[in-house]
Order: sequence, then C-alpha cells, then structure tokens
Amino acid sequence: MKTPNRAIAYFSRSGNTRSSAGMLAEMLSIAAVYPITEVRERRGIRGFIMNGFDAMRSKAVDIKTTFPETAGDIDQLILMTPVWAGHVTPAINGFLEKTDLSGTRVILITVQSDPEFKGIKKAVSQVEKRIIKQNGVLRQSAAMHGSAPGKKADRDHLAAEIARICPLLELE
Ligand SMILES: Cc1cc2nc3c(=O)[nH]c(=O)nc-3n(C[C@H](O)[C@H](O)[C@H](O)COP(=O)(O)O)c2cc1C
Repeated sequence: MKTPNRAIAYFSRSGNTRSSAGMLAEMLSIAAVYPITEVRERRGIRGFIMNGFDAMRSKAVDIKTTFPETAGDIDQLILMTPVWAGHVTPAINGFLEKTDLSGTRVILITVQSDPEFKGIKKAVSQVEKRIIKQNGVLRQSAAMHGSAPGKKADRDHLAAEIARICPLLELE
C-alpha cells in the first residue's frame, strides 16, 4: 500500500502546541510542518478576553501560513490547536475557511489546560462541520494536556502526552 502523504499544520500562542507538533513530526518522520499565525495578534488581559470571546462564537480570523490553499496531494493532515473557551482557536477556523481539503483526511489534535478535556466533543463537532464544508473528512480527534493559559509546559510533560496519543492515531 502507498504510504500516505502527510503534513502537520498548527497554531500555537504560548508554544505548547508548537513544541508538540515538532515532537510529533519527529516521531512520525513528517517533514512538512506548517505554522499558522494570526495576522493581528492580541496580547495582554484584554487580548485574552477577546480571544476567548471570539473562540466561543467560532469566529474565523485572518491568518498567515505557507500551507497550500488547496491541500491537493496531502492525504493526511494532522491539524493541531490549543483550546480557547472550550472551542478551537479563531486562527484554526480562519485556516479551515481558506483551505480546500478535497481528498484530505484530517486528524485533529487539541491541546488544553483541562486534564479532563471537558466539553471537547462540542468543539470537535464544530471543526468537523468546517472540514466537511471544505470537502475534507475528519478521521479522528485526540486531546492533549498542555499548560495553564500563557504558560509553557515542561518538554517532558509534552513528550509524555505525545507518546500517549501517538499509538492511538489512525495513520494508515
Ligand atoms: C484565551 C484562552 C482561552 C483558554 N481557554 C481554555 C479552555 O476553555 N479550556 C482549557 O482547557 N484550556 C484553555 N486555555 C488554555 C490553553 O488551551 C492551554 O494553555 C494550551 O496549552 C495553550 O497552547 P499553546 O501554548 O500552544 O498556545 C485557554 C488559553 C487561552 C489563551
């Protein structure tokens, strides 16, 4: 069987998702890793509140990425995002609005501070709707524990989380 062409795309505010994406890429030998960044970043307390508010209403913001607008020959996309206010980030919504996912199977990995991942199913189902709208398929989702808002977890903690979820991923 042909080895699927894989890529990772991620958004990260405080570095936990970025580090995790790097570790996963290394573990799975994925060379194509695409950061997604916001055109307009908001920082500070006001930024925190507005980011949470926008996430809660599933807003999509303008993003920058070198990921192709048409996923084309990428069979499998591992999409990684922090959880904000019980939802995925506005940057990931922005990415999903502008990316044609025809023929691409997506594995969503969420990173959050709540070790019990409460309410994550609702966030995943919202992402799934966006993926379907872009002609893609949500194959699977997996939740990871990151850090408290604004903090960076130890590398060992993130490595342990990646090692925990990695065998669960449906990568064939
Ligand atoms: C605006 C904002 C809202 C957040 N809301 C949640 C939440 O609802 N549930 C949760 O478990 N973690 C929440 N967090 C924590 C992040 O998901 C967590 O810190 C994650 O590790 C951040 O990933 P990053 O370092 O890649 O940005 C929130 C963080 C921010 C900045």
